[in-house]
Amino acid sequence: MEFQEVIKARHSTRAFLPKPVPPEVLDRVLQHAALSPSWSNTHPYRIAIAEGEVIEDLRKSLSTRYQRASKLQRATLPSQLKAWITRDPGLPDGDFKPMLKYPDDLQKRRFECGMGLYETLGIDRKDFVGRDRQMAENFRFFGAPVAIFVFVHGETGPYGPLDAGIFLQSLMLAATNEGLGNCAQGALGLYRSPLDKHFKIPSQYKLLCGVALGYEAEHVVNTFQPEKIKHQELTLPTTK
Ligand SMILES: Cc1cc2nc3c(=O)[nH]c(=O)nc-3n(C[C@H](O)[C@H](O)[C@H](O)COP(=O)(O)O)c2cc1C
Repeated sequence: MEFQEVIKARHSTRAFLPKPVPPEVLDRVLQHAALSPSWSNTHPYRIAIAEGEVIEDLRKSLSTRYQRASKLQRATLPSQLKAWITRDPGLPDGDFKPMLKYPDDLQKRRFECGMGLYETLGIDRKDFVGRDRQMAENFRFFGAPVAIFVFVHGETGPYGPLDAGIFLQSLMLAATNEGLGNCAQGALGLYRSPLDKHFKIPSQYKLLCGVALGYEAEHVVNTFQPEKIKHQELTLPTTK
């Protein structure tokens, strides 16, 4: 594809076909993503690739944990306290705190994005069960046959995540170029221990997020197109 086609075609896919991704296609995507620039060429990030039995096991364990978490959210305060004391497996054990509330000036776009997704799916904004069901889809990687987890070196301040973000975009564009749907998933940063079961993760690497990868299914959720920001809105005015 031409660059402009790729950058315009990339969008978040939230329903995948069970069709496997051929190893040579995945290899090309990773090879191209690894061409990303990084501060002093350090590439302060690592990836863990889940496919086959590993992704199936993670689909189960992450979904079970999320179901517990969402039950706990609705539980009484004493039950929540007990869960905290007993280190209930539903509680997030990710390396970074989840971003529960966004700064006020960003909240409007966040809200519109979430509500737009629910509207596309015909989920009423007050239908918390329906909304939760969509959230839970994250933990089954929306049915994707491949999930890639991104870890960042924990001693790099803001620059490591910056480099990891550049890599993430290259990965998504390379996947799009190969005809693969993809979705970056911050939600996959919530639980770390199920990943330690399957991957040898050096202690200095911290889980940032995941990416679901595979062939896009025909599903209404994949028609969701949140309004893009105009570049003029990103550009700060001069003081003159
Ligand atoms: C770092 C990052 C984390 C994201 N986390 C999630 C997620 O957990 N679940 C989800 O459904 N979408 C997630 N998204 C997708 C965004 O919602 C999406 O990129 C945004 O709404 C713009 O839509 P588009 O990707 O279709 O252009 C994430 C995107 C990024 C870049």
